[in-house]
Amino acid sequence: MLHDNYGINEKGHLTVGGADAVSLAEKYGTPLYILDTDEIRAKCREYKNAMREYLPEGSMPFFASKALSFVGIYRLINEEGLGSDIVSSGEMYTAMKAGFPMEKTCFHGNNKTDEDIENGLSAGVGYFVVDNTEELQALGEAACRRGVVQDILLRITPGIDPHTFAAVNTGRVDSKFGSPIATGAAESIVARALSTEGVRLCGYHCHIGSQIFEADPFLRAVGIMVDFAADIRNKYGFSPAILNLGGGFGVRYYDGQDEPDITGMIKLTGERLGEKCAERDIPAPVVFMEPGRSIVGAAGVTVYTVGSVKEIPGFRSYVSIDGGMPDDPRYALYASRYTALIANKADEPCTEEYTVAGRCCESGDLIGEGMRMQKAERGDKLAVLVTGAYNYSMASNYNRIPRPPIVTVSDGKDALAVKRESYEDLIRNEF
Ligand SMILES: Cc1ncc(COP(=O)(O)O)c(C=O)c1O
Repeated sequence: MLHDNYGINEKGHLTVGGADAVSLAEKYGTPLYILDTDEIRAKCREYKNAMREYLPEGSMPFFASKALSFVGIYRLINEEGLGSDIVSSGEMYTAMKAGFPMEKTCFHGNNKTDEDIENGLSAGVGYFVVDNTEELQALGEAACRRGVVQDILLRITPGIDPHTFAAVNTGRVDSKFGSPIATGAAESIVARALSTEGVRLCGYHCHIGSQIFEADPFLRAVGIMVDFAADIRNKYGFSPAILNLGGGFGVRYYDGQDEPDITGMIKLTGERLGEKCAERDIPAPVVFMEPGRSIVGAAGVTVYTVGSVKEIPGFRSYVSIDGGMPDDPRYALYASRYTALIANKADEPCTEEYTVAGRCCESGDLIGEGMRMQKAERGDKLAVLVTGAYNYSMASNYNRIPRPPIVTVSDGKDALAVKRESYEDLIRNEF
């Protein structure tokens, strides 16, 4: 069942965090996002403990809330003592509504608007992760107007290809994010940051990609970033207090895919950092990490109701569900592969192979192709596993379909965290 928080109960139904997914679908309707918060807390603790044990004192995880953003998740993340990465004024607003301590946030984005900059300064975000020189200048000027000095990290592009899907691969030189070391842009922005009033340079940030399953790309990133930091120190006398290594730890979506050893990877990262800093004779910086998917991915399951099963002889069989790309655009965007099953027949053998199609007027509206599962019929509850990350946060109202609710499950008990959008919500801002 891919992850320990999924199971099958005596009725033959899929369970998520001990709760019966079919009963939840009947109680709350479908499509339905189920979120196992015990699983999220366990992952938060794993990151915190491993970072405390293997990385310099003060090192900590920041949840990348682009993976899942709603008021309740910021509350949970805060209870677990993590910081948060935010990338827009909208995520900032949501975090603030949850009472999230803004000094424990890193504010990202390759094009922060003037409004974002003002909002971030008013909110008191901990670190702006500055992407480019225009932002640096605008931030410095805005901070000076307020008479404050804002802590910043600079987003540096180390030039690493972690062999993941191109659209989620952001550490290569050719990227819309950050300043590449290879072109000299990284050094220039550091020199400029050191002489910009209104900002205090605290260190560097890099994010090399997503769905990374082994430590090697992170170890290479550490090597490159420490070399860069040492070269800068030799030339400008500046040593970073913080090195933010971004997110990217992978999650198992289907059988045959590995489950990354988070603690083991953090241990290796700590060892590499220690060796490399000793070799280049610079003080080891505090490390921040920004896991998103690996904290919330496996906690989520989406349940749909099957509407039709259409066999096209010589081609394939389509199962149509009552959701699709509006609640989960990842197959349409990245051809991301999932595992699905018929939740009310979870104990039956997987004898069929289906293309799971959404209900939108769009042929690309698929959840997956060649998905092996139990025989489906109208009314069955079809569950897609590992949908906690980049599903709700990427959801849209395409075809005017209201977004589904999020129901949290803890200790087998369920609670509504986000209610289903109504048709009235769809026209709320329209005249
Ligand atoms: C800057 C930054 N940090 C963290 C993350 C989170 O990555 P993941 O969800 O793969 O852990 C991303 C993802 O795009 C990112 O761009």
